[in-house]
Amino acid sequence: MTKMKIKPLKVIVTRKLPEPIEDRMRELFDVKLNENSQPIPKSELIRCLREANVLVPTLGDQLNSELLSQANQKLKLIANYGAGFDHIDIKTALKKEILVSNTPDVLSNDTADMTMALILGVPRRMAEGSSLLANGEWRGWSPTNLLGSRIAGKKLGILGMGRIGFAVATRAQSFGLKIHYHNRRRLHFDNEKRVNAKYWDNLDEMLRNIDILTIHVPHTPSTFHLMNARRLNLLGSSAYIINTARGEIIDESALTRLLRTNQLGGAGLDVYKNPNDINPRLKDLKNVLLLPHMGSATHESRVEMGEKVIINIKAFQDGHRPPDQVLPSML
Ligand code: DGY
Repeated sequence: MTKMKIKPLKVIVTRKLPEPIEDRMRELFDVKLNENSQPIPKSELIRCLREANVLVPTLGDQLNSELLSQANQKLKLIANYGAGFDHIDIKTALKKEILVSNTPDVLSNDTADMTMALILGVPRRMAEGSSLLANGEWRGWSPTNLLGSRIAGKKLGILGMGRIGFAVATRAQSFGLKIHYHNRRRLHFDNEKRVNAKYWDNLDEMLRNIDILTIHVPHTPSTFHLMNARRLNLLGSSAYIINTARGEIIDESALTRLLRTNQLGGAGLDVYKNPNDINPRLKDLKNVLLLPHMGSATHESRVEMGEKVIINIKAFQDGHRPPDQVLPSML
């Protein structure tokens, strides 16, 4: 019997990944890696779409309909390095019979930790305290300086009770926060009990009744500006808003306006609509703690995300469904 020679998959990675992941990819695939950690230009992305059997993009690679329509027929899988896939036009990919996979779960705990850091850091005015010290303006302890709000006993509203939302709930509970949540689907009774959470079917109602809002919904057409000016106004003037999900979910201009006029207590943000064009007025505010999209930035998460990418490609190569395939029901 003659053995059929199977051509190895041409895998193209758009950005620098952690060393152990790149090493393993070299062993397993005919891989083209990228030394650069910045997003590649559009023209180069199009070249990748024409050359690859499997493309490994990341957040920042805008794979919209116009770009995907230029993909070669041999492109069969987009194995995204990241959990969020709002930069990929899934519908166009499906139409072109390109599978898409992502890397959920492995970054949930680290992202929840960073969310907690913001939940604690904003009401306790950590950014202000830190810059006071950095600017040489601190004159020592005082009974009345930099007083913030106590965390314990506050009502935390979780918008989106998926894996990350739930991981935040478990942490927040041990800080004495009371858990409230709004989600498309109500949690199973046992899970609700685990974190002693109160479900709100109506988002507006929840917003009127909480002290801190934390956002954990994906960015989709129906969540774009979900937190618009009207909804932001439902939060009281002493309320805080935390976002480690996607910038598009909050109307950033409305948020800036409300923070500037003290109609909101403060904000902790890790994500922005356009990271290269953050409202300068937002950056100038004292009652904000702004981070550069670091939620999943641990060595462990980033390696495990890479391992997920490899598993998805391997499964596909062996004729199986990638375990983290993005399905139309997720849109
Ligand atoms: C993701 O994977 O979508 C995260 O936003 C990266 O931190």
